Amino acid sequence: MDVLIIGGGGREHALAWKSAQSPEVGKVYVAPGNAGTALEDRVKNVPLAPSDTEGLVEFARTRAVALTIVGPEAPLVAGITDAFEKVGLRCFGPSAQAAMLEGSKNFSKAFMRRHGIPTADYESFTELDAALDYLETRNFPIVVKADGLAAGKGVTVARTRAEAAGALTGMMSGGKFGAAGQRVVIEDFIDGEETSFIVISDGERAIPLASSQDHKARDDGDAGPNTGGMGAYSPSSIMDDTLHDRIMRRVIEPAIAGMREEGAPYRGFLYAGLMVDADGNPEVLEFNCRLGDPETQPILMRLKGDLPAMCDMALSQRLRTDAVSWDPRPAVGVVMASSGYPEGTTRDRAINGLERVDGTVKVFHAGTRQEGDEVLTNGGRVLCVTALGDSVTRARDEAYRAVAAVDCDALFYRTDIAYRALAREATAVAGQ
Ligand code: GLY
Repeated sequence: MDVLIIGGGGREHALAWKSAQSPEVGKVYVAPGNAGTALEDRVKNVPLAPSDTEGLVEFARTRAVALTIVGPEAPLVAGITDAFEKVGLRCFGPSAQAAMLEGSKNFSKAFMRRHGIPTADYESFTELDAALDYLETRNFPIVVKADGLAAGKGVTVARTRAEAAGALTGMMSGGKFGAAGQRVVIEDFIDGEETSFIVISDGERAIPLASSQDHKARDDGDAGPNTGGMGAYSPSSIMDDTLHDRIMRRVIEPAIAGMREEGAPYRGFLYAGLMVDADGNPEVLEFNCRLGDPETQPILMRLKGDLPAMCDMALSQRLRTDAVSWDPRPAVGVVMASSGYPEGTTRDRAINGLERVDGTVKVFHAGTRQEGDEVLTNGGRVLCVTALGDSVTRARDEAYRAVAAVDCDALFYRTDIAYRALAREATAVAGQ
């Protein structure tokens, strides 16, 4: 069967790479893809934007694509799955109604409240004055979120009332984020350690993928502005059986059951961004209606199952736990981003040395494009250099060895990816 992957980032490169390994798969199309997907065997880029629903439906129909997997949230929230299904095409990802778990923070928070899923207290507002009045009653820091999709930039953790008021004003009367910021959610700040927990669901059952943690801040030590993620590793270093069970019981199972009860069965990847407190209790920071980026890259490096087969089973509502198994070795992914990211970006700078990367390392491309034989930067996050290792330390060392082999004067990266996992590993080794 032929498969279509929608999107052009590192997550989609990993999805395409993994799909192409399936013995059941003929061709893998990626719309629009990047230089990395263009260079993969059996993978072909298609110059269609993820927002071009009509064009993508037409492409899948005329090429008899058997399975489409949607990477980013925007087309899902816009209803791409519904559009494919309407003409009888198989498309893996939640319906527009189910994707509201990410598409509207207000919907998501109200849903969690209705179903007893642990999350911080909140209120939502469409009037700036009422939102500013609410701040008078709260403690700081506090979190201000644009209700709609804002390309990962719609969340402000405000340390002071003035900062929160500035964020609210920018969103609600300054037009920052457009319609997405006309409604805001203000929620209490919760402290702890962040972790990502992603499942694949067929609407009834949910099977957890390998756990992961990402680094959202731009700079070493988790400093600097928030980004889409500067690196990730799998498994998450705080995950143990107790926490895993708590997340499944308190978060994932009620979410899947709740969506089904509300008439919007959740079929797709569901990503819970969690804060775990000192007693190991998880609270949901956000739900995303898709796989994480860059979490997907280390997770798929560890996946032993057949990815298109898993998605196909979930679409047919016959997901089985034995469809998924994992390489026990940890994986670490280091993002190399364009100078200026996330505020601005540089483009069109040559990337050399990629052919020097080998062994257990895979370089997933994101913001790259091909020009002749050259690979050029194309802005934002550019590469995610991902390695497997017998330990977190080995995986980290391999990833950074490969990062050093990449030659481009317009890229930067964090030097401390997986530092928490490394510290825990060092403590465990010392205790042996
Ligand atoms: N890495 C965070 C996200 O994908 O939302």
